[in-house]
Amino acid sequence: MKTYRIAMIPGDGIGKEVIPAGVQVLETVARAEGQFALDFNAFDWGCEYYLRSGRMMPEDGLEQLRPFDAIYLGAIGHPSVPDHISLRDLLLKIRFNFDLYVNLRPVAILPGIASPLAGKGPAEIDMLFIRENTEGEYSGLGGRFKRGRPEEVAIQSSIFTRRGTERIIRYAFEQARRRPRKCLASATKSNAMPYTMVLWDEVLREVAKEYPDVGVANYHVDALAARMITHPESLDVVVGSNLFADILTDIGGALQGSLGLAASANLNPTARLGPPLFEPVHGSAPDIAGRGIANPIAAIWSGALMMEYLGEFAAAERVMRALKGVTGEGRVRTPDLGGKNTTKQVTQAVIEKVGS
Ligand code: NAI
Ligand code: MG
Repeated sequence: MKTYRIAMIPGDGIGKEVIPAGVQVLETVARAEGQFALDFNAFDWGCEYYLRSGRMMPEDGLEQLRPFDAIYLGAIGHPSVPDHISLRDLLLKIRFNFDLYVNLRPVAILPGIASPLAGKGPAEIDMLFIRENTEGEYSGLGGRFKRGRPEEVAIQSSIFTRRGTERIIRYAFEQARRRPRKCLASATKSNAMPYTMVLWDEVLREVAKEYPDVGVANYHVDALAARMITHPESLDVVVGSNLFADILTDIGGALQGSLGLAASANLNPTARLGPPLFEPVHGSAPDIAGRGIANPIAAIWSGALMMEYLGEFAAAERVMRALKGVTGEGRVRTPDLGGKNTTKQVTQAVIEKVGS
């Protein structure tokens, strides 16, 4: 029997509540399917580790992760550690060094969940976001000059390479081709950013020639943000740079009814420098951490994406059926969805459906 080795990094805050929930569901699905086993190894990296050791993860952390089949991560961030340290020295380090250039984020409404948009449901809101994950605005290049003085200067450079732009756009076309509507929307801002975003648009036009069966629309990112609210039904697959798609997918999470529902995968579909990483879109939610009321659905859905990318399609399908069953019935819900239930109760409800 195939055994997948999964590196589990719960991280901080509610990451420590939702990842164990996801692990329980995945272990149940593995037993129910009976075709494969999961071997989880826990890593206690994150902000507490940083406060003890001065590092977000050990010096050889990437080497420790490399042999695993996948990484399952909760969230990183705590008020006692500046976010630019906690994010850059763990999550971004993994994404950049393993060259996980695709950040894939489904934006779809689960049955029984009300979208905040009146009259828009699962039929109208069904998008797949493809976010560039290794360069762009998050390259971390720049500096500060004359710190703290009135004449201080800060420079933050964006890096857009032809190779990096082309591979993410190509992946988005491939995803669009596989979906019934075959539409791709691109987020640009070439009116105000005449170098990086004009390159982005040129590459989009070039790659589009290889996909005559896919309809392409190019929107300025601000207009696209508005379109997600006014005409979500017009959007199918959406591709965007690291920053643009980061912002748009939080709108996506809101459209889904809660950030506690938004799942994601970090992938490299063309080369293996390290394992792919699966994580909920949300952060560590210090405002509700430790109260046992975090919604585990985003983490569980991310676990389903992990099963899918490991090639265990029946398991992925079984998890999604269980999630949809629980949301569809609407009996057990965490407070972010207007319910009174706990993380554990929602997890238990999903487990019962996975096992049945
Ligand atoms: P956040 O996503 O942690 O929280 C935003 C709001 O959504 C909060 O009101 C929170 O209670 C709610 N929320 C989020 N997930 C939820 C869930 N599963 N169930 C119920 N409610 C949920 O974003 P915020 O507050 O901006 O960031 C908090 C910390 O997390 C920061 O340190 C930030 O840097 C970090 N962060 C880490 C991410 C990661 O590890 N990938 C992603 C985003 C933020
Ligand atoms: Mg974000």
